[in-house]
Amino acid sequence: MCGIIGCVGRGDETLDTLVHGLSKLEYRGYDSAGVALANGSVEVVKRAGELENLRRALNGERDGVSGRVGIGHTRWSTHGPPTDENAHPHRDCTGRVAVVHNGIIENYQELRDELTDAGHEFESETDTEVVPHLIETELAGGADPETAFRSAIERLEGSYAIACVLADDDRVFAAREDSPLVLGIGDDAVYLASDVPAFREFTDKVVYLEDGEFAVLDGEGWSVTDSTGAPVEKAIDTVTWDPEETGKSGYDHYMLKEIHEQPRALRQCVSGRVSELSGEVDLDVDVDPTGVQFVACGTSYHAAVYGAQLFQEAGIPAQAFLGSEYATSPPPIGDDLVVGVTQSGETADTLSALREARRRGAKTLAVTNVVGSTVSRECDDTLYIRAGPEIGVAATKTFSSQVVALTLLVESLRESRRETIAALRDLPASVQTVLDTSKAEEVAEEYVDSDAYFFIGRGMHYPVALEGALKFKEISYEHAEGFAAGELKHGPLALVTENTPVFALVTGEGEQARKTIGNVKEVEARDAPVVAVTDRKSDVARYADHVLEIPESDPRTAAVLANVQLQLVAYYAAAQLGRPIDKPRNLAKSVTVE
Ligand code: G6P
Repeated sequence: MCGIIGCVGRGDETLDTLVHGLSKLEYRGYDSAGVALANGSVEVVKRAGELENLRRALNGERDGVSGRVGIGHTRWSTHGPPTDENAHPHRDCTGRVAVVHNGIIENYQELRDELTDAGHEFESETDTEVVPHLIETELAGGADPETAFRSAIERLEGSYAIACVLADDDRVFAAREDSPLVLGIGDDAVYLASDVPAFREFTDKVVYLEDGEFAVLDGEGWSVTDSTGAPVEKAIDTVTWDPEETGKSGYDHYMLKEIHEQPRALRQCVSGRVSELSGEVDLDVDVDPTGVQFVACGTSYHAAVYGAQLFQEAGIPAQAFLGSEYATSPPPIGDDLVVGVTQSGETADTLSALREARRRGAKTLAVTNVVGSTVSRECDDTLYIRAGPEIGVAATKTFSSQVVALTLLVESLRESRRETIAALRDLPASVQTVLDTSKAEEVAEEYVDSDAYFFIGRGMHYPVALEGALKFKEISYEHAEGFAAGELKHGPLALVTENTPVFALVTGEGEQARKTIGNVKEVEARDAPVVAVTDRKSDVARYADHVLEIPESDPRTAAVLANVQLQLVAYYAAAQLGRPIDKPRNLAKSVTVE
């Protein structure tokens, strides 16, 4: 979703710093981009489409665009289509004020009507544009820039991360409410962004802003105040990951790099949390639930469905809910622990479900990848999945790390099962075997012209069937659906033809595997090609046209391995179709609106 960058103190490199920051925020998903630099006047350049369009425009106008204080933005449209006019930054009538904004201003229509009646002229259809006009009104009334900014923000209802520059001022003003903002503290410069990668190359020192806080960045440094204007003492954190981790390291796409990073991510997730001697799991998380409700969206929801099964199997009642549906018909909470699973820690639907749960008295736990994210600050406790930065919009390594973190959580609540701990220890090497031996590229090549793609599985393979289909559709733009294997005959079978490959997830030789093989025979009888994702224990291979093999593993971890094969199938299908794999159309990495 939208991204913000701002900086003070970079001298002649201000513009390059902003554009670099925007390139690091591209992964969040966007459809236009722009910058504003203040230097006596405010210069704004903004373009619809890729960042490359902005770069070209800046190259054309470079002489006119200079300044030592600046802000930049990548926009993901909510109010008004992606046009040059609707791109941020937005200015007031005088051209003295420029503003960028993430989030949604819910009372914007009322404010716009009021400002229009007072004679203000609007150039865009966005909700954001009311902000510079409100600041203009305050300035015209005699307020100093900081007071004008604060007073304008006080009029807003909704969610926002906002940054502002003024023509005749060498400061950046910022405020947040329900949308992330973080300061980067360099030796001679201060940065502001919606996400650390935007300035990580320049500093590893960060200060996370909380809801209701205001920040001012100037040549001397930075300060944070609360909504009453009182100074706030902020801790400076150090981010531990390397800027290199956000590069492609020779891979064609971030997604492929991140798929290949899974062995390391899973080692990091387990490292230091399991006793070498006793196998006991200690996560430094203070929970002991009698029941669990998971809330999550997208891929994280699939990890939550997987997690709910792990808990159920361990005898702890658990259920997974979509974040966007949770508040519509909230389940009774009782003593249940409510667990928000979200890699970014910023997904609005998940956050609002957690807030609803807290409002009703529940204890909450965040399972997230991002230190300092909103979810980790709002929940009672946090379990970090430690996957490292994930840039590709399609989540890959974070899914595997979420499932492993949830497996560790289950094991931490009981006497850990030796076979599960052993499986978690073996998992990174088994994932590596899948990566080294996978025939996913050949399978993708053979079936790339199909009408649709179906994915079926039972038990823990069910959420992976859903995830396999989601991955496939989001990056290939081809129709893909995942089903519980037993449900196939209750409707979806009508869609199965000789041109709809069915990916069947089957491991082991138990009851579940036997029944799924029965479902495989049903599709085989309708001439559909079958791709079995399986270990050597199952004899599903006899009924399959292709086999994507995974090493034998514990039933709780086998589906993670099957998922790696499906990630590769989706990747290679999308690559053959020439899709923009890391930034699929219409999608965003971090969805901060409901
Ligand atoms: C977006 C992304 C999905 C992701 C979902 C939840 O829709 O495109 O890939 O699974 O958000 O994200 P979260 O950060 O909460 O895990």
